[in-house]
Amino acid sequence: MDQAKDYVGKEISIGAWVTNKRSSGKIAFLQLRDGTNFFQGIVLKNEVGEELFDTAKSLTQETSIIVKGIVQEDTRSKLGYELLITGIEVVGESHDYPITPKEHGTDFLMDHRHLWLRSSKQHAIMKIRNEIIRATYEFFNKEGFMKVDPPILTGSAPEGTTELFHTKYFDEEAYLSQSGQLYMEAAAMAFGKVFSFGPTFRAEKSKTRRHLIEFWMIEPEMAFMHQEQSLEVQEKYVAYLVQSVLDNCDLFLDTLERDKELLKKYTQLPYDRISYDDAVALLIENGFDDIVWGDDFGSPHETFIANQSDKPVFILNYPKAIKPFYMKEHPERTDVVLCADMIAPEGYGEIIGGSEREVDYDRLSQQIEKFGLSTEDYSWYLDLRKYGSVPHSGFGLGLERMVTWISGTEHIRESIPFPRLLNRIYP
Ligand code: 4AD
Ligand code: MG
Repeated sequence: MDQAKDYVGKEISIGAWVTNKRSSGKIAFLQLRDGTNFFQGIVLKNEVGEELFDTAKSLTQETSIIVKGIVQEDTRSKLGYELLITGIEVVGESHDYPITPKEHGTDFLMDHRHLWLRSSKQHAIMKIRNEIIRATYEFFNKEGFMKVDPPILTGSAPEGTTELFHTKYFDEEAYLSQSGQLYMEAAAMAFGKVFSFGPTFRAEKSKTRRHLIEFWMIEPEMAFMHQEQSLEVQEKYVAYLVQSVLDNCDLFLDTLERDKELLKKYTQLPYDRISYDDAVALLIENGFDDIVWGDDFGSPHETFIANQSDKPVFILNYPKAIKPFYMKEHPERTDVVLCADMIAPEGYGEIIGGSEREVDYDRLSQQIEKFGLSTEDYSWYLDLRKYGSVPHSGFGLGLERMVTWISGTEHIRESIPFPRLLNRIYP
């Protein structure tokens, strides 16, 4: 039905599922889903005869059918089109479908995720996710980036060794990738501007509405680029994603009752920047007594800082001690690094982490040792600093964080088809 406007007045035949129905003596309304959209089918007893009308009335929730009918404009529905049904062929019966229009608890819905995906809100979130994926490829292709795929089985641990999924690689120890960044740095030295888009694994024991164990990350890396210019790419990219969803997912935003006026503000550039130092000072001034310089921010801190603006905010230059080994030291200070987190509005927290990378061979190998990593494991990474090293910067955007924020979803578990959470790997 996403092509309905081209078929007004014509008879079509499509595969669909029955999501709901109501009927009176002479007319039946079928709520249908064809995969692309939800729409209404109308069956008029006087037009179709007794037999087809009875078939329509007997259809149960999630029965699959081939439905024939004439596409009509319908100003009352969100889609704007409905189907005047002329024929129904049942393909697969459905009895006692577990998810009914009544309220179900989250655990029940998560246990039935394989079916829950069919519900209109879940359908809308996945459509928005798909648009963000589509727009990501479009943006980076337009901007002259090349897609490079880093490995998923790896021996490197860019983001620290505490959250790794260990696995055997024949006789060696390996991990599932927690970031493709180090490989993307190698790729940037070969191809200039690159991006990756792949699954990411973090054995994080955090059970928050922002954490997944398995998520998808977009990681651009740019040669001959300093952190300042990288921030410009980041805000342009995020604004592009928001605009694409506004342009192409209007109906799905309505299904989710998302405030589009708020989203429009997020397309206005530039986004505000605040230093970590100033952010800490601001928090203390405003009565946060649980933070001192050197601490990482928790969600209440991030939310307070984000609330100072009506768009995403960059927090710049965090303390060196709480950030990964590869970040470049600030040229005028030894205690902070050239990095930024982009914090989404409305309490959605960090959506991007990025930095300029250390390019000095000696300083980088010292950092590797200081972090308890072996310079032997990272010798290929150090090589990048030996042969034509250039300033380079990059960042990672968490796809599901982005989807959760743009769709206005409460919990990140609904932003991925089959979430992997602490204590959940079913279905
Ligand atoms: O801040 P992070 O850990 O940064 C990196 O991995 C860098 N290597 C990226 C780079 O510079 N190439 O992760 C980046 C983003 C976060 O801002 C967040 O959006 C998302 O990945 N993310 C998660 N999303 C869902 N669940 C989790 N457990 C996440 N951890 C990080
Ligand atoms: Mg981060």
